Amino acid sequence: MSRDRRILERCFRSLRRNSRELEVEENLVIPLLQEILGYNEQDWQQQPKVKSSRPDFYVHPKSALGTYPPYLIIEVKAANGRISKHRWQLRQYLKTSGALFGLLTNGYDFQIFFNHEGNIVPILECSQTELLQPSYFDRFKTLLWKKSAIKTINALAQRRLNFVGLTQAISKVVGRDISSLLRQQSPVVTENERGKKSMIITVFNNKGGVGKTTLTINLGAALNRLGYRVLLIDIDAQANLTMGLGLDPLQDVEEKGYKDVTDLLLNPKVTLSQVVIRKEWPNTRLDLVPSHIRLSDKEPDLIRTLDIDRVLQRKIGNNHDYDFIFIDAPPSFGKVNSIALMAADGVLIPTQLSPYPIRAIEYVIKRLKEVQSFRGDDLVFLGVAISMYDKRSSTFNTNMKNRLLEMLERCEEEDSNNLLFPEYTWIPRLNVVSLSAEKGCPIFDYQPIQGEQNSLEDARECYLALAKHLLQILRGVKR
Ligand SMILES: Nc1ncnc2c1ncn2[C@@H]1O[C@H](COP(=O)(O)OP(=O)(O)OP(=O)(O)O)[C@@H](O)[C@H]1O
Ligand SMILES: [Mg+2]
Repeated sequence: MSRDRRILERCFRSLRRNSRELEVEENLVIPLLQEILGYNEQDWQQQPKVKSSRPDFYVHPKSALGTYPPYLIIEVKAANGRISKHRWQLRQYLKTSGALFGLLTNGYDFQIFFNHEGNIVPILECSQTELLQPSYFDRFKTLLWKKSAIKTINALAQRRLNFVGLTQAISKVVGRDISSLLRQQSPVVTENERGKKSMIITVFNNKGGVGKTTLTINLGAALNRLGYRVLLIDIDAQANLTMGLGLDPLQDVEEKGYKDVTDLLLNPKVTLSQVVIRKEWPNTRLDLVPSHIRLSDKEPDLIRTLDIDRVLQRKIGNNHDYDFIFIDAPPSFGKVNSIALMAADGVLIPTQLSPYPIRAIEYVIKRLKEVQSFRGDDLVFLGVAISMYDKRSSTFNTNMKNRLLEMLERCEEEDSNNLLFPEYTWIPRLNVVSLSAEKGCPIFDYQPIQGEQNSLEDARECYLALAKHLLQILRGVKR
């Protein structure tokens, strides 16, 4: 056995299953850094403040040319803790610090992550016993030792190496192509017949009243403000989306002889363009497929109709001119929801930051996975957007955020931290938001009364930030 592995074995023997985090740091992590990976004390900081976080170790060789991004962040847990529960935390540290690598360990299990410009993927996972084997140990050391750190940082700083090159180098070390892992995390934008990219997004959460409809309207409006053509499809018999855009399902749709979503779903001859109503305000233009309460009576007809699950997908087809189509689904797991999920390229889950809505997401994701495996193609989970949060309760929000991240970690194999939309996109609870829906217009066309100007601007900014974040997720990706 090599000298390095003998040292490692000695470190492992000094740990017990009840060793606390500090013991894991002192008995394993520090000797590992010093005696095996070749760093000295100036090369790392313990618990430094990195923006708003404090990772356990921040490792960056003093002698390297570049100072940013840092090479390695290490997050240490007590020996009896399951490290999988803490992956989200390390991901968060990697994101805020921009570090290239992250190591998560409780002294018994080890996971190394690679941070590719915010896209974080696991590259090596092993137990104590495995790490003592040359095949794991050599890869572990090649990735993390000081020589590699200096070589990589210098090459990046001098632009002799870019992220593509680094990804290839890491793939060689770990013996599998990690670029495919990075690709898998990118959502998909479809191209229609005119060669135009478009995306159909179903806004989905079986928990009622979490802000789905309001978010759909104003996110759609924000995208329109940014120059995109947007269609909103109301597939909820409550017809809140229809009303939120200023249309009364009875007076403005039925009595005027317009068709609604029920016709689109159940009448094979009705096409998408026949059910679209255009709504224009001074600042926003949105197309709408309206809904009507009669949709609720049609559940038996929907169930009876052959291949109904794919009807909306077929009706939307490729022959349209929209950049974004949002489907506002009802808060249930009924037939209408299967139709909405079968038609989508991506799913967006809005939630409030409170215990019951967070619990509900677990079921939503389970359902999503069922549909994903049934479809057998790409149905991308775009992420969780936060709605109606109370800006004043910051401790409560942090607790809820952590609970949500833990829950996402439990449900999703990878990338849970990327799934939660960043805080600057969260929509606060503001009266102007509900008032604009009541007035039947998007937030960008709401006329404020005295004293509402600031919160109106706040709300508009958040929806625009949400829209830009969504665009960022979709940027440059095509099928
Ligand atoms: N950011 C916000 N600030 C204040 N009120 C809001 C906000 N977002 C939504 N609301 C209000 O909360 C209520 C529920 O919102 P919304 O109808 O969008 O939820 P939903 O999830 O679509 O409900 P459902 O499950 O019934 O379809 C509405 O009265 C709406 O005006
Ligand atoms: Mg709704």
